Amino acid sequence: MSQYLLTDEQVNNAIRDLPVLSKVVSKALDLMDKDDLDFNEIAETLQHDPGISSRVLKLANSSFYGLSGQIASMKEACTVLGIYTLRNILLSAAALECFPVDVHAVFDREALWLHSFCVAGISKFIARNQRLDHDAAFTAGLLHDIGKFVLDSSFPNEFKEVLKHSDQDKYPQYKVEKEVLGIDHSSIGSHLARKWNFPDVVVSSIASHHDVNEPLSTPIIDVVHIADLIAHELENAQQDGQISLPAEIDSIERLGLTSGQLTEWLPDLLELQSTSKTLLK
Ligand SMILES: [Fe+2]
Ligand SMILES: [Fe+2]
Repeated sequence: MSQYLLTDEQVNNAIRDLPVLSKVVSKALDLMDKDDLDFNEIAETLQHDPGISSRVLKLANSSFYGLSGQIASMKEACTVLGIYTLRNILLSAAALECFPVDVHAVFDREALWLHSFCVAGISKFIARNQRLDHDAAFTAGLLHDIGKFVLDSSFPNEFKEVLKHSDQDKYPQYKVEKEVLGIDHSSIGSHLARKWNFPDVVVSSIASHHDVNEPLSTPIIDVVHIADLIAHELENAQQDGQISLPAEIDSIERLGLTSGQLTEWLPDLLELQSTSKTLLK
């Protein structure tokens, strides 16, 4: 008998039955992979799903992309942003559509999306400063905890137990998940990212954002890890007014950062946190 609340079979079934991307999103992604790109066709395809189109436009017009209010149509989004950026925005929009905020749920999805946007903005900011792929960093940051939505959707009662223990014992949630369920959100989230054909850099960031010291660590994993710690600090600072930026030397050093630099960036990071609050409305 399993020592966990979930059996291996339940976990394997949940992984097998993970949600699929909508037909519209899959078709648009296929069109984006073609050598002879047709922006009209991509724009027309996405317009078939008004929910996705409006989310893409909202993200594209957010201050995260520095184009506030300038993109009025899907066609413009294709031409102004370019396919690589649009692809990343589309994957993020698809995830938001798949796990919408549910005000009646026990698990506070709104809080998790707010945290995710904050991590996305901070990841993009750090990546841009360190001349890394900031589009990938934004997507990886936004989706780093997507496995929590999967656990909440697939196993709401067991996940409630996890939240209770993590809260009571002040113990990191991913460790409680592993101990109580036998699988954590990094792992199940990376299965979903692979199923949705996310870029490898995003899949690995989701899989390893709590475990950065593996030999396979990449700069974007380090970026998301640091951004996650900063976002939690900013969230907790609202309660006690204190901020101490992360001192996880390995990730910071690997990125060529200093803790002094992080302190200098604090006003920008706080602004990113308030920007992230506008994106769910
Ligand atoms: Fe996480
Ligand atoms: Fe997180």
